[in-house]
Amino acid sequence: MSLSVDSVDIKKKIENCKTLQEVEVIRLEYLGKKGLIPSEMKLLSQLSIEQKKIKGQQLNKLKTFIEDAVNDHKILIENKKLEEKLKNESVDVTLPHNEEVTGKIHPISQTIFSIIEIFGNLNYSVEAGPDIESDFNNFSALNIPPHHPAREMQDTFYVNNANGEDNVLRTHTSPVQVRTMLKSKPPIKIIVPGRTYRSDSDSTHTPMFHQVEGLLVNKDATMADLKSTLILFLKEFFEIDNLKYRFRPSYFPFTEPSAEMDVAYTKKNNVLKIGEGDDWLEILGCGMVNPKVLENCNIDSSVYQGFAFGMGIERLSMLKYGITDMRGLFDLNLKWLDHYGFSPLDLKTRSEI
Ligand code: PHE
Repeated sequence: MSLSVDSVDIKKKIENCKTLQEVEVIRLEYLGKKGLIPSEMKLLSQLSIEQKKIKGQQLNKLKTFIEDAVNDHKILIENKKLEEKLKNESVDVTLPHNEEVTGKIHPISQTIFSIIEIFGNLNYSVEAGPDIESDFNNFSALNIPPHHPAREMQDTFYVNNANGEDNVLRTHTSPVQVRTMLKSKPPIKIIVPGRTYRSDSDSTHTPMFHQVEGLLVNKDATMADLKSTLILFLKEFFEIDNLKYRFRPSYFPFTEPSAEMDVAYTKKNNVLKIGEGDDWLEILGCGMVNPKVLENCNIDSSVYQGFAFGMGIERLSMLKYGITDMRGLFDLNLKWLDHYGFSPLDLKTRSEI
């Protein structure tokens, strides 16, 4: 007693199907309510017990065999479909880019990338804060009390708050020193690139400009550490190993002692050469964090000390890339950007060369 069908033939039939629908037709032909297997099952009752047992087993085996073949082939078809879909949707990332439609990286962004890279290699992390700051963070916590002349030094834009308290457009990135010290415990080692605002506008000043702040707080930071950090930074940034520089004593309410750092330059035939010569350009302000500032930020100044620095990104950018007119940086002139900008696909920095 044997079945009229050959399982090898059925498998072939299933495997020849190209679509899920075709597989379904065959599945119904054998396993559907009126399909071959159920019909044969019905006939079992007419057989002797012995035959019933044998044929029943055969039918069950065949049923499982067909079910498996159907499922396997369905999966195969679905995988093929998916593969096809992925193939059609794929983007060829190796295609050469089209210069015409590629934007350029602005020199300010490029400068920020380089600064982050250099300080990143010295294990500084990057912090950020809001452009609209509280009077406390921008001034009071930094040891600039109300009516202090330093407030006038900074041509502040005031922003009226709903509850009558004055907010400001931050005049420097130093308030992020305060934010960081209030939220984290020393050791602290951060830089803060960001936008800053002062009510000042002429050929060398714009009301919005960029600074990068640096802050290090630990138990044993010294002025010598500050100086060596800044010297290393400027040499790396300008890619000049024997850069000529000087530190001058200065005053900031939030650092004590304070200094400013200049680099030497020469100007011949209207071309600026940085790093040598007898003229000096001011690059940054710096100093040891005033203990009063540490206390204002809940850091015990008898245990901790630190240094801070702040520099103007526009000036660094102009000096490095030979940009003579600051206003070009903010003109939104595509021709200018095409000349001074950087290809996003060519972001090579010194460490990669
Ligand atoms: N915040 C100062 C400025 O804007 C720069 C500075 C930062 C000086 C940190 C000392 C320490 O001029």
